[in-house]
Amino acid sequence: MRSSRHLVLVALAAVALAVGVVQGTAGAGESGGAGDTTSGTSQADLVAAGEQLFLTSCISCHGVDGVGTPNGPPLTAAGEANADFMLRTGRMPMASSDVQPPDKPVAYTDTEIRQLVAYVGSLGDGPPIPQLDLDAADVTNGGQLFRANCAPCHNASGIGGALSYGRHAPSLQETGLEQVAEAMRVGPGQMPRFGPDVLTDQEVNDIVAYVDYLQNPDDPGGLNLGYTGPVAEGFVALVIGLGALMLVIRWITRERRAAGAREGAPDA
Ligand code: HEC
Ligand code: HEC
Repeated sequence: MRSSRHLVLVALAAVALAVGVVQGTAGAGESGGAGDTTSGTSQADLVAAGEQLFLTSCISCHGVDGVGTPNGPPLTAAGEANADFMLRTGRMPMASSDVQPPDKPVAYTDTEIRQLVAYVGSLGDGPPIPQLDLDAADVTNGGQLFRANCAPCHNASGIGGALSYGRHAPSLQETGLEQVAEAMRVGPGQMPRFGPDVLTDQEVNDIVAYVDYLQNPDDPGGLNLGYTGPVAEGFVALVIGLGALMLVIRWITRERRAAGAREGAPDA
């Protein structure tokens, strides 16, 4: 596991180096050949590379320097958390700006995302990417906070639910844990924003730990009913329970009804 990750890193580094060399020769040293070996490491390099990506894929909707256009909101207060959230859930770049941004396959590599995030972060003040420490989290407290603040829209088990005007609160079952924290700080679309005045960093941490638990519940056995939560479980119990009761009642009274029919009692 660990060593395969190292292998991947080494492979990535090799590819990056190769690309750098090719670009260095093809670009006739336009960005100063020798300095290229360290490119992509410093914050300034990240921002510069992010700007290039922004110019190709984002500027048409978010405008020059992210000031916004009729097709997309300004990004000058979006912050790194919002950019990271939008890119890592595949919401951005969007194809059309008049629907709720769908969760799509992520369009960029991890490096490209870090570059775009750094660039958007440089456009103005906004929430930073939250730091998580699940070992220090209180899952029980997270559960209480989740049921009070998140379950009304996302369902007690995090499977999501419908909202008005054809919008929906998506399932949290597949969402990356960092993106769960980011969503709280950012408040995407119709979701309210939970700033530090509403939920402390520790509480955000607790809620994320609870979502982690929801994504991998210790199954207590029995039918899980697709984790649809207490209401649906009660509903199923009602339908099956009442249905069975009706059958028993019919069965008990069938002799009487048969007898009644034989006598041809014209009661009705
Ligand atoms: C087709 C137009 C379009 C393109 C292209 C696009 N966006 Fe967006 N973007 C939008 C719209 C519309 C929203 C608002 C979505 C919503 O909140 O429902 C948005 C929202 C965002 C937000 C959240 C802003 C906020 O304040 O909530 C970020 C961050 C963002 N986009 C980044 C990007 C980046 C980075 C790219 C390029 C990789 C990009 N977008 C490409 C249309 C676009
Ligand atoms: C009023 C309803 C509402 C409440 C309350 C709410 N959300 Fe949301 N949430 C939404 C909607 C709507 C979206 C989709 C936003 C969009 O993409 O335009 C969303 C999106 C998300 C996402 C992104 C999921 C993905 O994979 O795309 C996460 C994570 C999330 N919410 C977590 C939370 C947490 C944690 C809480 C509680 C602290 C919470 N939400 C409270 C409505 C809500």
